[in-house]
Amino acid sequence: MRKLVSNESSVVVLWMMMLLLLLQFCFSITAACIQKEREALLRFKNSFYEDPFHRLASWNGTDCCNWNGVGCNQTTGYVTIIDLRQDYNQVDSYESLSSNFIDSSLLELKYLNHLDLSGNYFNHTQIPNFLGSMLELTYLNLSRTSLIGKIPPHLGNLSKLEILDLDRDYYEFDATRWVPLNGDIEWISHLSSLHTLHLSGMNFSNAINLMQVISSLPSLSSLRLRSCSLQNNDFSLGSWLNYSSFISRVQLLDLHDNQLSGQIPTIFQNMTSLKYLDLSLNNFTAIFEGGISTFIENNCGLKVLDLSLNFYFGTDDVFESSYENETMGCDLQVLNLRYTSLKTKIPNWLEKLKNLQTIDLQSSQIYGLIPTSLGNLSNLKYLDLSINNLTGTIPASFERLLNLEVLDVSENSLKGVLTEASFANLYRLHTLNLGYNENLSLEIKANWNPPFQLLFFDASRICCFGSEFPQWLQTQKALVGLSLSNTNLSISSIPTWFTPQNLITLNLSNNQIMGPLPTNIGDQMPKLQRLRLNDNLIDGSLPRSICRWKNLNVLNLSNNRLSGMIEGCFLNPNLYLLDLSSNNFSGIFPYSHENLSYIEQVYLRNNNFEGSMPIVLKNAKSLEILDLTGNKFSGTIPTWVGENLESLQFLILRDNLFNINCKFWILHTTNWKEVSPQILATSTE
Ligand SMILES: *[C@@H]1O[C@H](CO)[C@@H](O)[C@H](O)[C@H]1NC(C)=O
Ligand SMILES: *[C@@H]1O[C@H](CO)[C@@H](O)[C@H](O)[C@H]1NC(C)=O
Ligand SMILES: *[C@@H]1O[C@H](CO)[C@@H](O)[C@H](O)[C@H]1NC(C)=O
Ligand SMILES: *[C@@H]1O[C@H](CO)[C@@H](O)[C@H](O)[C@H]1NC(C)=O
Ligand SMILES: *[C@@H]1O[C@H](CO)[C@@H](O)[C@H](O)[C@H]1NC(C)=O
Ligand SMILES: *[C@@H]1O[C@H](CO)[C@@H](O)[C@H](O)[C@H]1NC(C)=O
Ligand SMILES: *[C@@H]1O[C@H](CO)[C@@H](O)[C@H](O)[C@H]1NC(C)=O
Ligand SMILES: *[C@@H]1O[C@H](CO)[C@@H](O)[C@H](O)[C@H]1NC(C)=O
Ligand SMILES: *[C@@H]1O[C@H](CO)[C@@H](O)[C@H](O)[C@H]1NC(C)=O
Ligand SMILES: *[C@@H]1O[C@H](CO)[C@@H](O)[C@H](O)[C@H]1NC(C)=O
Ligand SMILES: *[C@@H]1O[C@H](CO)[C@@H](O)[C@H](O)[C@H]1NC(C)=O
Ligand SMILES: *[C@@H]1O[C@H](CO)[C@@H](O)[C@H](O)[C@H]1NC(C)=O
Repeated sequence: MRKLVSNESSVVVLWMMMLLLLLQFCFSITAACIQKEREALLRFKNSFYEDPFHRLASWNGTDCCNWNGVGCNQTTGYVTIIDLRQDYNQVDSYESLSSNFIDSSLLELKYLNHLDLSGNYFNHTQIPNFLGSMLELTYLNLSRTSLIGKIPPHLGNLSKLEILDLDRDYYEFDATRWVPLNGDIEWISHLSSLHTLHLSGMNFSNAINLMQVISSLPSLSSLRLRSCSLQNNDFSLGSWLNYSSFISRVQLLDLHDNQLSGQIPTIFQNMTSLKYLDLSLNNFTAIFEGGISTFIENNCGLKVLDLSLNFYFGTDDVFESSYENETMGCDLQVLNLRYTSLKTKIPNWLEKLKNLQTIDLQSSQIYGLIPTSLGNLSNLKYLDLSINNLTGTIPASFERLLNLEVLDVSENSLKGVLTEASFANLYRLHTLNLGYNENLSLEIKANWNPPFQLLFFDASRICCFGSEFPQWLQTQKALVGLSLSNTNLSISSIPTWFTPQNLITLNLSNNQIMGPLPTNIGDQMPKLQRLRLNDNLIDGSLPRSICRWKNLNVLNLSNNRLSGMIEGCFLNPNLYLLDLSSNNFSGIFPYSHENLSYIEQVYLRNNNFEGSMPIVLKNAKSLEILDLTGNKFSGTIPTWVGENLESLQFLILRDNLFNINCKFWILHTTNWKEVSPQILATSTE
């Protein structure tokens, strides 16, 4: 009996388990998608007038929980997530979803907690009030959506909101910026769960106590207020003192492009949790006493410090004192001081920051030697010391920078000789800019096989390549940009082995390159867009293969010995600079069916061109300079010159055979916005 009971009970248990499984099965089917919500989503879909990438194509059928960008609670089937983020770094804004409003069908989604519409286009409408009723929201991202107007205070009802991103970007600024009315930021103070707040691009110049309101939020740790018209008084001590918990809590603070000036307020010293601080593009002149090194030391968790584009930063002597004390290690990874006025040597304490990956000191008026100790920063990936007054050599210790990807020391007064050994371990280097250091030279054996594959190599105006085109460039298959201008390069022709298939920019100007252009130059570098070979000794005619350059936008062949007729095949809509002056080209300037609507400058001076005014320029509405001096152009000046060339500022026609009709000038130049004296003074000689 007992046995039976136990048997019975095990059967019951089995049945119960099966029932449970069945229930779960049924439940998961019914939980797939709630009909009412599906209909709301379809209405939302229909509110977009443009979906160029068919991102909502999957929004059909019954199972809305499986639609792209929709997420449901698996137990209840309610929609909890809409994520239609359009990463604008990957596509142009006009390729995003577009609508004239944010549709209120979203209100049906009672359990929605994550709404990301960032990067899509809402045609300069306002943020709707109804968003303030979506009380389950914890994440709301409307950044870069071209929404305008006043932020509805209704958003203050979102007491569960943890992340609010309303960042606007520069490209949206053409429409009127969001201008919150006086005192109209009070709603922010109700967002008691907020830890991340991004409000870049709002004009807060009229908002009273902005920082006081913001810093009163009990959990806030990430604050982005780029381009918000903030002023010093927003950061005056009084309004901060009462909220010291924010000050010691804040981890990310981004105040790029505001109107802050003078010394960085001392309160920043107390932000001991900071990991990311961006104060770039303000008008700070100095950091508080103790200087940058002390600041970094006090904020040892800081990973990114950006003080760039404070053009007067360093004019105040306080900075100088920062070198007295050395900093102990710390976590800093990015130090950006470009476009400042440091007027100092590169400090030795940098070497203590072992995690540094990026040092940017471009154009910061630094001078003196590059410290050997920088070679100890084994994590360094990006080092930009360009446009300064550095002297001495590039330290040999740099050969130890195994992770270096970008090295830019251009426009200094460096000297010395770099050999294969200098680069022997730089496996990851892809950008090397040594240009404009006239006493720097490269001594590299012809058979060198470098450890790196460069994308960009600039050695313009360094010393002396002499009679050999650097052979090692043959190994650099990935090159995108190369400049060897002004290097005394004296070769009998551009070598035919030089075939960088991805090259876009080539500058070999101001050398002594002789001979004709390689017949196959167009095949050797088929993607070329910018070619500068001016001021050389190149002769012969233009080879047919240049017809391959369908995207050419700069062609400068001036001051050579080129001759012959020209074909129009390379004249394309992307061209904006064409300089063929001071050669021996002849014949009629070619025609092309393409519209040269972007071309800005055309120099044909000192050749033997003949025939009428180049008709290919007939619709060149961007043309600013046209110099035909010293040719045999003839005929009358066509009326389209006055009618179509609306941007023209310089028209130089002298020493030709034109038949200038004075009436023409009176009748047809009225379209020119600015008839500059240069046109008339030089036109009829
Ligand atoms: C429905 O969505 C599926 C993808 O989930 C797609 O393959 C199909 O073409 C869509 N049907 C319609 C009519 O848009
Ligand atoms: C799904 O909803 C249930 C019931 O409301 C809730 O307990 C659970 O936490 C939710 N799950 C998620 C992942 O939000
Ligand atoms: C909001 O979306 C953008 C992408 O459009 C993203 O870069 C940003 O990090 C998001 N903001 C937050 C706080 O997650
Ligand atoms: C965008 O909004 C403007 C102004 O309301 C309107 O004239 C225009 O038609 C809208 N664009 C589209 C494509 O609907
Ligand atoms: C939300 O906030 C607005 C304005 O702050 C207020 O008028 C409204 O009553 C609030 N709505 C809810 C549902 O709390
Ligand atoms: C911000 O608003 C103020 C006052 O309305 C205005 O004077 C200022 O020009 C605005 N700033 C920007 C950058 O739009
Ligand atoms: C800070 O708090 C003190 C005392 O509570 C108060 O008197 C003062 O007005 C507050 N300062 C600011 C700027 O709010
Ligand atoms: C900032 O920190 C200093 C000590 O480092 C302290 O004396 C000062 O009171 C702090 N200021 C605030 C506003 O917390
Ligand atoms: C920035 O600061 C410098 C030095 O104090 C001052 O001369 C200049 O006028 C300021 N510029 C702006 C735009 O405030
Ligand atoms: C350097 O450190 C000493 C001792 O830690 C300190 O007294 C001094 O003020 C510091 N100097 C600067 C310029 O920070
Ligand atoms: C280098 O120093 C000179 C004189 O000290 C100064 O005029 C020049 O602007 C500096 N150049 C750079 C790039 O900082
Ligand atoms: C930096 O490297 C040099 C060797 O070039 C070494 O003597 C020195 O101790 C290193 N400095 C640090 C702080 O590791």
